[in-house]
Amino acid sequence: MNRRNAIKLAVGASAAGVAGVVTLTTAFKPKKTAAVEPKKIELGESASQWKYAQLNPAASADVAYSNYKIGSCMYGVSSSIISQLAEKIGEPYASFPIHMMKYGHGGIGGAGTVCGTLNGAAAVIGLLIEEKQIRDVLIAELFHWYETTLFPSFKPQEAVYDYAPPKSISKSVLCHASTTRWGKLAGFRIDSNERKERCRRLTADVAAKTVEILNEYFHHGYTTVHQNNETVNECMACHGSKGKLANTTGKMTCTSCHDKTVGHKLFGDVHYKYMDKRK
Ligand code: HEC
Ligand code: HEC
Repeated sequence: MNRRNAIKLAVGASAAGVAGVVTLTTAFKPKKTAAVEPKKIELGESASQWKYAQLNPAASADVAYSNYKIGSCMYGVSSSIISQLAEKIGEPYASFPIHMMKYGHGGIGGAGTVCGTLNGAAAVIGLLIEEKQIRDVLIAELFHWYETTLFPSFKPQEAVYDYAPPKSISKSVLCHASTTRWGKLAGFRIDSNERKERCRRLTADVAAKTVEILNEYFHHGYTTVHQNNETVNECMACHGSKGKLANTTGKMTCTSCHDKTVGHKLFGDVHYKYMDKRK
């Protein structure tokens, strides 16, 4: 056999091999975790002194936008909600040590981890809602909305810095990914006034969204819309607590950091089928 034929043979064999592997892979596909259907979260009983009063989302966005200059993103979102509750209800909100919320700027002291707007919103949800399950659902709603939404949308009546930022989808709850992805799209440096204006408007968007969620929940219970993250469901079918691997937790979008490796794509399903359950 000459060299050319040998190569043809090898190509044929590997093509058949690939076809076989693809069939195998499909045959062994584990069930994805069932799609998360919209769910009604009933209003819980609460004896807490931290009551809620309905707020206006647009007004909350304005206050958050303006408070950004005092203490940045986390402070902007949380102080908008707390200060309005203090106006409507008084104590204990009036003496809430709101200055503490400044720590969350730049993904916690500039570390680039969780986006400060989300940290601030989750802190307020934690202040208002005692039941862990309800709290976690509302936080997941907000976080997945953040991962999948084109923003910023907020348009100030009077801009702090006169620049209309383009919108991006963060695909991640992390400050690092959110700001960097935006910076690549818009072509501005991380320390630019343009990037700060983008985050200032995003702060307004997140304050409005958080207030919408809280208004609905405290009015008559909340119906979920953002719980279904198909990628996470797929990965967690094998890697989550109900899968055999059970080696990771998380609800944030996996593929902002991981790609499925080729080996994983081709052999993951078969390997998974025959592997023993991890202890
Ligand atoms: C069919 C089950 C299955 C699904 C679905 C699955 N994995 Fe895996 N994954 C595996 C198996 C099996 C291994 C190898 C684990 C071992 O033996 O230690 C693995 C390994 C990994 C590893 C470490 C090694 C590598 O190949 O990089 C990462 C990271 C990973 N998976 C991420 C993911 C992500 C992200 C998703 C969703 C996009 C996902 N997996 C979906 C079964 C699965
Ligand atoms: C912000 C980035 C990031 C996100 C998002 C993320 N991971 Fe990871 N993951 C990591 C890092 C970093 C490690 C540790 C890797 C190491 O030490 O080799 C890791 C480890 C893992 C491992 C163990 C890999 C191994 O070699 O055994 C699995 C499995 C995994 N992640 C799955 C997931 C799944 C599923 C999701 C989504 C729910 C997810 N990850 C989201 C960064 C991330």
